[in-house]
Amino acid sequence: MTPVLEVRDLSYRLPGAGDRHLVTALSFSVAPGETLVLLGRSGSGKTTTLKLINRLLEPTRGEVRLQGEATATLEPYRLRRRIGYVIQEIGLFPHFTVAQNVGLVPRLEGWPPDRIAGRVRELLALVGLDPDEFAERSPRALSGGQRQRVGVARALAADPALLLLDEPFGALDPITRVELQREFRALEGRLGKGMVFVTHDVREGLLLGTRLGLMHEGRLAFLGTAEEFRRSNDPQVKQFMEAA
Ligand SMILES: Nc1ncnc2c1ncn2[C@@H]1O[C@H](COP(=O)(O)OP(=O)(O)OP(=O)(O)O)[C@@H](O)[C@H]1O
Ligand SMILES: [Mg+2]
Repeated sequence: MTPVLEVRDLSYRLPGAGDRHLVTALSFSVAPGETLVLLGRSGSGKTTTLKLINRLLEPTRGEVRLQGEATATLEPYRLRRRIGYVIQEIGLFPHFTVAQNVGLVPRLEGWPPDRIAGRVRELLALVGLDPDEFAERSPRALSGGQRQRVGVARALAADPALLLLDEPFGALDPITRVELQREFRALEGRLGKGMVFVTHDVREGLLLGTRLGLMHEGRLAFLGTAEEFRRSNDPQVKQFMEAA
């Protein structure tokens, strides 16, 4: 089966900053139905990696393939419609309603309005926001955690093959967070998508990850299953396990 995502020897050097690499020689792949969790301390290169995957940043070296196609050969805007992205800062459009935000990519893809409306309601319900109450609100009238859930709904809207999630549950209270984690886990198997899920929360990572990657100073210090992560003797991994 073709992986949803293949990353080969990916590096990113800051333009004009001599030899400063933010990401160095990353290689991994994500099969349909798999979630790769990226852990790592603040500044270790997780967000940079996601941006290299959807070409918000252009790799200095290496290759990214989406469903077997080299992303360098795709128009960035076409590429991004095939990738759902939940960014760390949420990034909802403030002048759009919740429904317009969630329906953004389906609209760009030319879906008929009633199909978009149906999909928006379905997704809002999925992330635990009552469509009757929230669809017509402005993002300004939402709490941080509600905004984050709209961001997740928006990323799923056009049924992309790959989802990139950058701490999607960071702003949620622990109870809602556990509820969404459960929903999410059920979704993973059902959707058959590939996901790259960034989190600081080791417990969340162990729950949601088919495999876990630990980034350290721009490199993958560890890549393996949850079981292998728990048992690893790698000093970086041990530090994370002890902190959990
Ligand atoms: N445009 C830039 N110019 C200079 N340094 C940058 C730039 N963008 C990112 N960096 C640096 O690159 C490193 C990696 O950043 P990145 O955002 O990938 O970290 P992260 O692992 O996502 O961290 P966090 O967990 O805090 O979100 C950081 O040290 C950051 O300061
Ligand atoms: Mg980040």
